[in-house]
Amino acid sequence: MSVSIPIEIKQIFQQHFGEPELIVRSPGRINLIGEHTDYNLGFVLPAAIDKAIYVAINKRADDYVHLYAGNLHQSFETHLGSLQPTDQQWPNFILGVADQLIKAGHTLSGFNAVIMGDVPLGAGLSSSAAVECATAFALNTLFELQLDIKTMVLLSQKAENEFVGLQCGVMDMFASMFGKKEHVIQLDCRSLEYAYMPFDTSDIGIVLIDTGVKHSLASSEYNLRRQECEAGVAIMQKKYPNVKSLRDADMHMVNECLSSGDPLVFSRCLFIVQEIQRLQEACDDLKNNDLVSFGKKMFATHEGLSQLYQVSCPEADALVDMVRNESPVLGARMMGGGFGGCTINIVKKEKIEAVIKKVSHQYAERFGHEPKIYIVNIDNGTSLV
Ligand code: GLA
Repeated sequence: MSVSIPIEIKQIFQQHFGEPELIVRSPGRINLIGEHTDYNLGFVLPAAIDKAIYVAINKRADDYVHLYAGNLHQSFETHLGSLQPTDQQWPNFILGVADQLIKAGHTLSGFNAVIMGDVPLGAGLSSSAAVECATAFALNTLFELQLDIKTMVLLSQKAENEFVGLQCGVMDMFASMFGKKEHVIQLDCRSLEYAYMPFDTSDIGIVLIDTGVKHSLASSEYNLRRQECEAGVAIMQKKYPNVKSLRDADMHMVNECLSSGDPLVFSRCLFIVQEIQRLQEACDDLKNNDLVSFGKKMFATHEGLSQLYQVSCPEADALVDMVRNESPVLGARMMGGGFGGCTINIVKKEKIEAVIKKVSHQYAERFGHEPKIYIVNIDNGTSLV
C-alpha cells in the first residue's frame, strides 16, 4: 500500500471539509485469464493489486453532496434529491452508488468526500470500479447500512450499468472488494461462488505495459459485444432451450446454430465458449504449478480477443508480438475491456529489467513514445484505512 496517499488525502480533506470520519482503500485489479466471460456468466481469474483509490468522507448536516478529486483538482456539488450523471465523468462513479443506495431504500444524508489514488486512469485496471467500491464501502460504514460485501459488489456494478451506462459484468467490483494478497480469485460469475487460488510470485513478476491508448469507442463497442453475445444465445435457445447464457453453450451448439448466420455473432460466441473452457484448463495448470502451460493459454486468449472478439488495438497486438518469442515471458495478452489499456505479462523475475528495456525500445521505435510500465503485486481488497 502506498503510505503517502492516506496522509495526503487526509490533509486535502481537512483543507476542504474539516476532519474525515473515515478513509477507505479500494484497489484496482488485474485479470490473469477469462476476458469478457463475466457478463456471459462464465468464469474469471482476477486479483486486486497494490494500486488503489482512496475515499475520505464525513457527513454533512444538510442533503448536499460535496466532492473533490485530489488527482484532478476538481470540485463537484449536487443535492441528494437530484442525482444526475454529469459530463465531468468522475463524480458519476460516486453519485451512481449513492443513487443505487437510495433506490434500494436506504436513508442517506449529505456527505463530503475526497477521492484520490494511484490506479492509472483508462489503463484497464478498473479505476472506476475501485471508486465505486470505495464509495459503497464508505457510505455503508458512514451510514451504518449493514450491507454485506456481495451486496455492495452488485450495487456498485448496477451503478456502473445504470448511472455510468457501461453494461459491464461483475468481475472488476468483485476483485476490488474480495481481493486477497498473493491469491487470484476463481470466480463463477453465474453463481458468484468463488475460490482463492495461491499465485506464487517468488520466481515471476506481473508486468503491465500500458499502450497509452484510451479509445473513445470503448464503451459503445463493449455494449455492442454484449448484444452480439445475447443475439447468439437467442438463436441457440430456439434449438437448445437450456442455453440461457454462453456459459450453457458448447462448441457443437455454436457451430451447429451460428456458423451459417451473422459471422460476427458466430466469432464472438466462438471466442467466449473457447475462453470459458480455456480458463478452466488454465486453473488446472495453476494447481499443477505449470506456469509455462498457463502462459501459453494467455497468448491464445490474446489471439481470440484480437481476431475473433476484435477488442484489441494495433498497439496491444504489437506489445504481445514483441514478447511472444522472449523465453523469460511465460504469457502475455491484452487485459480488460480492450481498445487500449495494458497488456499483462508474466515474466521471470531475474529478466524483468531486460524485457522492459527491449520492449520499451521497440515500442518507442514503432509508436513514437515509450510505454508506461507497472510492476504490480497482488494485494487485499477493499478495507478501512
Ligand atoms: C471490463 C468490464 C468487466 C469485464 C472486462 C472484460 O473491465 O468492466 O466487467 O467484462 O472488461 O473481461
